[in-house]
Amino acid sequence: SGAVEFYGEQQAGIVTLAQDRLHFVAFDVVTKSRDRLVEMLREWTEAAARMAAGKDAGLIGAVDGIPEAPPDDTGEALGLPPSGLTLTIGFGPSLFRNADGVDRFGLAAQRPAALADLPRFPGDALDPKISGGDLCVQACANDPQVAVHAIRNLARIGFGTVSVRWSQLGFGRTSSTSTAQATPRNLFGFKDGTANLKAEEEGLLRDHLWVQPGDGPSWMEGGSYSVTRKIRMLVETWDRTPLAEQEAIVGRAKGSGAPLGGKDEFDEPDFAVKGEDGEPTIAEVAHVRLAHPDQNGGARLLRRGYNFVDGSDGLGRLNAGLFFIAYQRDPRKQFVPVQTALARNDVMNEYIRHVSSGLFACPPGVREKGDFWGRALF
Ligand code: HEM
Repeated sequence: SGAVEFYGEQQAGIVTLAQDRLHFVAFDVVTKSRDRLVEMLREWTEAAARMAAGKDAGLIGAVDGIPEAPPDDTGEALGLPPSGLTLTIGFGPSLFRNADGVDRFGLAAQRPAALADLPRFPGDALDPKISGGDLCVQACANDPQVAVHAIRNLARIGFGTVSVRWSQLGFGRTSSTSTAQATPRNLFGFKDGTANLKAEEEGLLRDHLWVQPGDGPSWMEGGSYSVTRKIRMLVETWDRTPLAEQEAIVGRAKGSGAPLGGKDEFDEPDFAVKGEDGEPTIAEVAHVRLAHPDQNGGARLLRRGYNFVDGSDGLGRLNAGLFFIAYQRDPRKQFVPVQTALARNDVMNEYIRHVSSGLFACPPGVREKGDFWGRALF
């Protein structure tokens, strides 16, 4: 329940040990004024740094202000520890040029080539009302109240400048981002995050996660791109599927998480092994084979997703799934090819539906007090 350092070369909330809870929000900018937007980003940064340290969002706080004014903190996190809160900001393609082609804030020339709109993938069932957004903030914490409090206060500070476009709660991490963490499970009951990029793999993080000098534009150096996909999981259908079939779909054992044909969770999958029937032990259409770097020109992702259950759908089914979040150096070379392969051939597709999509350029970290989110962009 301690604090995670807010300031640094990189934003916290990416390689930070994945916390247990998520509140993710996408905003649309409603002001026409670039100055007002920048002013809000300054205010947000200060509030974020304070909340990450376990303090109230504003200087005066929830209960010490004058009775005649609304408090500068909403109060529901009073007395709670920082709970590992991280707040990570991203800028969506529409901030640089909106759907009508208008460059509202004079940013179009600064748009990274890597922030290219995602293509439509086969099977996509995206709802535009819960997709996209000019800005996003990912709040992760080990206490859901702390994550929700942080987003609520940013929305309060942004009133009149931004409005909430959509938001998503997640209740359980589906990835480990460090070798120090045990691998959690997703709602299919499988270990998720085994072959993830990990904080300790510095060389791989340089090659696959952080934008490097020369990648362009310079304001993104030390940043990363996030792709979010809300993936509904048809858990009732899955739960009627035999265990052996579930394992064949994933390509791993449900108990240990070991690749089929292997013994331990962290054994490398051997895609050449064939069973007595002459068929590959890990099927051609298994999720881990199709998603594996060997099948995708070496592409790796840092996955940081969360389980969600948004009540029920009125048809006697849970509205449940995975809120997938992946960070990477260039989505055109990483998420897009991997998802293209999965969308075409993954046998898991029978049990999942992608219902929302987001793409964001997450700038480098806030170096010190006075610096602010996206300073190099503005
Ligand atoms: C691996 C589940 C969606 C990319 C895995 C594993 C599971 C899993 C159980 C094996 C353990 C591990 O290495 O983490 C799911 C479920 C999904 C989903 C239930 C949807 C509800 C996606 C999407 C992508 C993706 C949308 C990217 C486009 C990967 C990658 C690996 C992986 C890159 C590691 C492959 C390797 O290197 O062995 N997934 N996944 N997954 N998944 Fe997914």
